[in-house]
Amino acid sequence: MILATEARSCLVIVLAAGEGTRMRSALPKVLHTVAGRSLLGHVLAAVAQFGASSTAIVIGPGQENVAAEAKRILPDAACFVQQERRGTAHAVLAAKSTIARSKPDDVLIVYGDTPLVRPQALAQLRAPLATGVALAVAAFRPADPTGYGRLIIKDDELLAIREHADASAAERKIELCNGGIMAFAGKTALAILERIGNGNRKGEFYLTDAVETARGMKLRAVAVEVEEDDVRGINTKKELAEAEAVAQQRLRQAALDAGVTLVAPETVFLSADTTFGKDVVVEPYVVFGEKVSVEDGAVIHSFSHLVGARIGKAASVGPFARLRPGARLGENVHIGNFVEVKEATIDAGAKANHLSYIGDAFVGAEANIGAGTITCNYDGSAKHRTEIGKNAFIGSNSALVAPVQIGDGAYVGSGSVITADVPADALALGRGRQVVKEGWATRLRALKSIGKRKTHSRD
Ligand code: UD1
Ligand code: MG
Repeated sequence: MILATEARSCLVIVLAAGEGTRMRSALPKVLHTVAGRSLLGHVLAAVAQFGASSTAIVIGPGQENVAAEAKRILPDAACFVQQERRGTAHAVLAAKSTIARSKPDDVLIVYGDTPLVRPQALAQLRAPLATGVALAVAAFRPADPTGYGRLIIKDDELLAIREHADASAAERKIELCNGGIMAFAGKTALAILERIGNGNRKGEFYLTDAVETARGMKLRAVAVEVEEDDVRGINTKKELAEAEAVAQQRLRQAALDAGVTLVAPETVFLSADTTFGKDVVVEPYVVFGEKVSVEDGAVIHSFSHLVGARIGKAASVGPFARLRPGARLGENVHIGNFVEVKEATIDAGAKANHLSYIGDAFVGAEANIGAGTITCNYDGSAKHRTEIGKNAFIGSNSALVAPVQIGDGAYVGSGSVITADVPADALALGRGRQVVKEGWATRLRALKSIGKRKTHSRD
């Protein structure tokens, strides 16, 4: 979706500096995740969908992990470091050189901690710039406006934004608040930003002062009302959980709209990148971690936990299945209860229906993996592969000690410990031979009854 008009160039600056101390975490705030994606990742995905001509990200000193996440999501984005945290306007000016150099028609400022922002909201905010407005501010009406900047509007003109700490009692009654996203006309952006001072309670350079500064320069500022979710900022773990709930709601709705059957949508957890084919059924209580794709007609039964897995057409997974990164299930594969699959390809029609671990393995088409089969892939220091040929039959409770190969169509007897390769169509048995002692139990019982009689006679 490209929402930005082709004719005008648009630079987006994402403010992501700050440690997020109220999260009570060693991780920088914007790296916390919602629906399996970092807060910054969500914002950058929205910016990419919106169709920015270029993107700059302002990070704090020493936040290489934030820079790495930005590069991972948007490799072309430029990172700038705000050496000292001296306010939101000061943060924008850390990227001053890119505004001066690229001379964009429009400059959009977005906060890195608003993961629910949608590309439509960015487009909505930017629209007035095409009519000669110098500054557009995202407005919203939160249920509790405490902490937000209040918008002072008269005759439809935005006169000022008053930060909560600096607002009078009357100003604090204003319901319309600053959402944080702002759009500046490129040609006057730097002139406005550089004039902003720090004469407020906190002694910070407030981006919000851009409104009064612009008006002082005889330029127009307007407010554009957007939905609360688009500007919902995350400062605490509670707010993170609330954003997760909204994100899940949106993802479930999108899955339902795309035709996925979610029997109990409120019990299914999705990731921002989960993909579904047609006629997929997801039963209650399933968790989709990052990077899961489910192809047409597959059924995911209850209580399954899936991460980094590709589920082929008409495959059946669970209940109680665990698919870990690198699990690739072909068409019609059955993975049943208490089966764990990791870094393994299971070819079309193969089945592992009960209580197995299949890791670092290849399982050929139509192979049958009996209950309790384990690929012993780890020797304490390195991982090794197990290759199972097509149509092979692995008897229940077998341990396949990797590296090992089981040929096409071969059989492994139940309870075997397989330490050497098995040729195609062979039978391998690796277990103690059964011994049968006729009449043994009768003799035992007879011995016991003699013992009992002797004890009684002593009484
Ligand atoms: C800001 C607005 C407030 C608005 C609210 C909406 C200002 C002065 N106030 O307040 O009007 O209602 O957002 O959520 O802008 N940041 C930096 N460097 C800094 C300071 C902040 O990069 O020196 C970044 C933060 O990481 C964050 C964003 O800017 O992503 C906003 O900063 P924050 O401290 O959360 O501002 P608020 O007090 O929420
Ligand atoms: Mg904030």
